[in-house]
Amino acid sequence: DYFQKQRKQKVLVEFSSPNIAKTFHVGHYRSTVIGNFISNIFEGAGHEVHRINYIGDWGMQVALIALGFKKYGSYELLHSNPLSHLLDVYVKISAECDENPDMVTQGNKIFSDMENGSQEVIQFWKIIRNVSLKEYQKLYDEINVRFTEYTGESRYHIKAKELIKTLQNSSRLQKNLKGNFYIELAGSDWIEDVPEIKHKATLVRGDGTTVYLARDVTAAIDRYEIYNFDRLIYVTDESQKFHFQQLFAVLDTLGYAWAKKSETGLQHKTFGRISNMSTRKGEMIFFTDVLEEAMHHINLDRLQHTTRKQTEDTSDTAKVLALSGLICHDFKARLSKGYKFSWTAALSWKGNTGLFLQYTHCRLCSLERNCGVTINPSTDTTELVLQKYEDVVCMIDHLACYSDALETSYSQLEPSFLLKYMFELCHLTAKALRGCNIKNSPQMEGEALLLSFHCTKITLANAMKLLGISPLGKD
Ligand code: ARG
Repeated sequence: DYFQKQRKQKVLVEFSSPNIAKTFHVGHYRSTVIGNFISNIFEGAGHEVHRINYIGDWGMQVALIALGFKKYGSYELLHSNPLSHLLDVYVKISAECDENPDMVTQGNKIFSDMENGSQEVIQFWKIIRNVSLKEYQKLYDEINVRFTEYTGESRYHIKAKELIKTLQNSSRLQKNLKGNFYIELAGSDWIEDVPEIKHKATLVRGDGTTVYLARDVTAAIDRYEIYNFDRLIYVTDESQKFHFQQLFAVLDTLGYAWAKKSETGLQHKTFGRISNMSTRKGEMIFFTDVLEEAMHHINLDRLQHTTRKQTEDTSDTAKVLALSGLICHDFKARLSKGYKFSWTAALSWKGNTGLFLQYTHCRLCSLERNCGVTINPSTDTTELVLQKYEDVVCMIDHLACYSDALETSYSQLEPSFLLKYMFELCHLTAKALRGCNIKNSPQMEGEALLLSFHCTKITLANAMKLLGISPLGKD
């Protein structure tokens, strides 16, 4: 009912947004799974959702790689192992810049060339952008996340310059001691709790090159023009809190009515950091290593428990299980909380884990296959009350609370409510299953039991899909 009463909205969810030539780190992973969940739940509520991946494909860091590549780069390595090679180059050149200010000057020069469209550096930029994108797409396919739009910072530097020119012509920008130009943010509701020094938001450097914030300002304006969105939600970690407050405040200061704080159309959904995540290769760098390590754990565990045969032993299954574990570990608490990563907490079959959800779903699937009764949707389940199946009735009562859990997760953009609900459903299901034997029950009773478990299975599967988990078990 709650969802039916809602007006259909146009919702833009910007998430994942990794940087080319830099690491797809745990923060990007968190943004990816959270953004995917938010998109799913808005779609589920009937809204028109656009999933936007705003790639960090422009800026000083890219110029630095171009500089570093001349010294440390190899096209062979770039093609065989692009992301780690580019990271390697980046680490080397950054270290050099820390030592040698001359390198920084050279980097600045390259960035300025890039913004002025110099062919040589643009050619190189295209190459590294393409290889990075290909790698990211592979990863998204692997974890089953899709986007409706790939865009990036590079798309906005020209428009950002135009905007800056207009602002300069109308004397809205001032020069600071470093020679950069900023806009004064006084008066916007967005900056109430932003420290004083951030009230001057730099939009352009002294040499005329654009900054991250300026590109974001134009990207938001562009999106509003294209989509006329009701909501635009950015998903990143909390370290960018001030950046987004500044962004919203700039838009508000420039007079865009849709950017007023009271409008609630703009939102920065933040999340805390994951600590303690490491793999056999050491401190975790690439998310793909985490996934691989998780699959390794799953497969080891299987070898130890060869009796656990409810799922088929293919690597696809191991991957789905691994992801289920990782996602549930991530969604257990409020997103603003960071958490300490633990392989056992993520990948255990016992306790409230993603594997427990999958296990329950598989049990329900095999029950349907093997109980010898067929589903009859018009069965009257009051039969169960009469026959005193108390635990089954408890499970059914809990099914009725599904929409409450959904609604809370939806309105707060917090998956933990839904997940908590699902764990409870699985525990109640385990209890309910203990006391019944569908095969040997009288027909009416058997049908009523089967229908109840079937509804549980459907509800569980739907909720899993919202979280971004594919339910396992043959139908
Ligand atoms: N590329 C950025 C990073 O990795 C995240 C982008 C967030 N979105 C935005 N519109 N600024 O930190």
